[in-house]
Amino acid sequence: MSDDIIATVRAKYAGRAKEIAQLRTVSVGSLGLSCSLSDDELAVRKIEWAACDTQMVGRSERAGFVEMTYHASPVMRETLERLIAAERSCCADARWSLHDEGTILRVTVEAQAAGDACCDTDCGDAYSAEDLASIGIDARASLGCGNPTLLADLRPGETVLDLGSGAGLDVLLSARRVSPGGHAYGVDMTDEMLAVARANQDRSGVKNATFLKGTIEAIPLPDTAVDVIISNCVINLAADKGAVLREAFRMLRPGGRLAVADMVALEELAPGVKQRLDLWAGCVAGTISIEAYTSALSAAGFAGIDIEVTREVRLDGVEGRIASAHIRARKPALVATAAR
Ligand SMILES: C[S@@+](CC[C@H](N)C(=O)[O-])C[C@H]1O[C@@H](n2cnc3c(N)ncnc32)[C@H](O)[C@@H]1O
Repeated sequence: MSDDIIATVRAKYAGRAKEIAQLRTVSVGSLGLSCSLSDDELAVRKIEWAACDTQMVGRSERAGFVEMTYHASPVMRETLERLIAAERSCCADARWSLHDEGTILRVTVEAQAAGDACCDTDCGDAYSAEDLASIGIDARASLGCGNPTLLADLRPGETVLDLGSGAGLDVLLSARRVSPGGHAYGVDMTDEMLAVARANQDRSGVKNATFLKGTIEAIPLPDTAVDVIISNCVINLAADKGAVLREAFRMLRPGGRLAVADMVALEELAPGVKQRLDLWAGCVAGTISIEAYTSALSAAGFAGIDIEVTREVRLDGVEGRIASAHIRARKPALVATAAR
């Protein structure tokens, strides 16, 4: 099954990389909404909405909510119904509604809370607006289940490695935190993700970061090369977690830290779930229990192991059975040799 898992995971994240590369945002009042329209389609859509403005009675905004009212007429009702149906299909992270109030037609647009990131699970908002602005990357580029850069308590001068770096958000944030003097590496096996990460790096202007192609079971860096290993929603995807954790241990300098956000199983998943490759690639079927995670870390040589559940996942079929967790551990410092 291991080769099948790798192939399925790689195919899934090649697809997600293409989606991330195409992320676009449009503004509806103060709401920044995701948009799948091309520039030409967007220009036409703007003209159609502008034509409705002649019949607009009022407009108001409050946090996450925009409301526009229009004089009612059969033509206006039909136009608004058509435009709203179109907006629902291209601006998927907003709730558009039309309210018919007799002489007035009221359109409301409500921003929805971020979801759908975090592999296929719901991980909520892990990054502050300031963090995202510092590297100029959209939160939707994250497929993680937490923010390991906060967990890791990074300091200037340190070397950091992100296992399964995806679009590069955590690598670029880490690079900022370890500057000056430090460096952040990301390793990922999916060419399409590496291309997105490198493009994001170019846009961010971050210089002290490097994205490497490789698997997290065989990392292309020498022994004891890094101070901190981070990872965000990736280790659950590996078929052999023991191999990944042994490799992480090899990479860390003595006394180095592991700070990972990942999915864990709170209850045993049904065999039918465990065997589904799509659910494995979606960060569900590959989850292991906290006890199994702790044993694998301990077997790899880690000490100071701490696993804290941060959020139960609401997902059909596994409701309450899997959760995001923060996982911390360290490689013991070298034991001092006896004095001669
Ligand atoms: C769920 S995404 C998380 C990406 C990123 N950490 C984030 O928080 O957005 C998983 C990423 O790990 C990569 N990946 C999965 N298994 C891997 C493996 N065995 N070796 C290297 N990369 C892997 C995928 O290509 C994908 O980019």
